[in-house]
Amino acid sequence: MTSEVRITPSILNANFEDLENEISRIAQVSDLLHLDVMDNVFVPNFTFDFASASALIGKSEIPVDAHLMVADVDLIAPQYAQIGCASVTIHAEATKDITRTLKEIRGAGARSGLALKPATKFHDYIRYIDDVDMFLVMTVEPGFGGQKFMAEMLPKISEIRAAVGDRPIWLQVDGGISESTIAMACEAGADTFVAGSAVFNSEDPAQMVRSLRALAQAVQK
Ligand code: DX5
Ligand code: ZN
Repeated sequence: MTSEVRITPSILNANFEDLENEISRIAQVSDLLHLDVMDNVFVPNFTFDFASASALIGKSEIPVDAHLMVADVDLIAPQYAQIGCASVTIHAEATKDITRTLKEIRGAGARSGLALKPATKFHDYIRYIDDVDMFLVMTVEPGFGGQKFMAEMLPKISEIRAAVGDRPIWLQVDGGISESTIAMACEAGADTFVAGSAVFNSEDPAQMVRSLRALAQAVQK
């Protein structure tokens, strides 16, 4: 069992007209800000181009965890590290040179993340484990917030947890995490939790982050 819980709220379902204020609502209680970058090619939705993402990253009160849902991610990913993201996650399905890109992210001073869509098998990527600082298991199809948690991904989380062993690799889940699903994901072995709609559609986002953390910590005890 892991020994630390990280809550990384996603602003995908926050008010995009006032993101600075939205971030400040959860900054004190969150570990990292999960920034979903979508290009309308890798996923059927668009959020930020590099310029607007950079502006937001520069203004964020807390470290940024960039989740790049963009095609041909190899060139742009290290740039997110260079502008100061604490963590940069690429999709296994969107890269032509996983090892090089993960190394370049690390070389630029960020944690390297590797994300797997629901249909993508961990088995095909286990050989990259020593270049990875965080695996991200998608528990919805990437593209939109507010979807239902795919419980059928729990075995994949457990499989990665077993493979990680003693390595200091974080295991993040993204999609449908709420007060009713976080314990399942934690029991399976996740330690880092994205929550978008659960946090920003709640009356009190900071309180929701605290509640999610407490529910995960209760599992780890
Ligand atoms: C979906 C994004 C998620 C999304 C999660 O493709 O990667 O980070 O914001 O939203 P919820 O928590 O509402 O499923
Ligand atoms: Zn995400």
